Amino acid sequence: MALFITFEGIEGSGKSTQIALLRTALQNMGHAVIQTREPGGCAIADQIRSILLHPENTALEPTAELLLYAAARAQHVTEIIRPALDSGKLVLCDRYTDATVAYQGDGRGLDPHLIAQLNKVASQATTPDLTILIDLQVETGLGRALSREIEQQDSSEGRFEREEMAFHQRVRDGYLALAKADPKRFSIVDGGLSIAQLAVEIQKEALKLLEQKKVSA
Ligand code: TMP
Repeated sequence: MALFITFEGIEGSGKSTQIALLRTALQNMGHAVIQTREPGGCAIADQIRSILLHPENTALEPTAELLLYAAARAQHVTEIIRPALDSGKLVLCDRYTDATVAYQGDGRGLDPHLIAQLNKVASQATTPDLTILIDLQVETGLGRALSREIEQQDSSEGRFEREEMAFHQRVRDGYLALAKADPKRFSIVDGGLSIAQLAVEIQKEALKLLEQKKVSA
């Protein structure tokens, strides 16, 4: 049976590491798993990603930014997410519609009703069964994200990391408000835990969902 799990959190929350660990754990149990990410996840959406995240694109207007996220999502859902779910796969996605609510809504202050409408259209009303929110203090997350950039000597995707601290605080608060409003779908985990401890917590949440939905490998 198809299942859709998304990962959310501020910059440097450890999503990418954790999503890969969960994918391996589920694959080792014999599940057919697709790991993907937003913005991006397929060739056309990846091209949109490079516009969205390029540090030189400081003139990108907030509404244009919102529409580009929606465009990337529409392509990604059609090309990757829907076909994978329709063929009974388990889909793990690094960021999804909640990121638009937190970043473009709480972060940029764009109209939440417009965001909800665009999210619905772009996602074809495809909602995650579980959203893992890796919560972390903004100072810690940004510190990690910047040292990763320096370590990898890659600043091609740093546009959001250059936003002021208050922006990231609004994003974190926005995520926490989303989780509070929908506790059935969200599971909040502590991004301050070690990688191994956090992986155990996330696996527990995923296995709970598999059991609830009676999904076996
Ligand atoms: P990543 O660094 O987790 O790959 O995410 C890329 C950036 O895109 C991150 O700073 C958050 C931002 N983002 C939005 O602002 N809105 C969205 O809808 C999505 C999916 C990501």
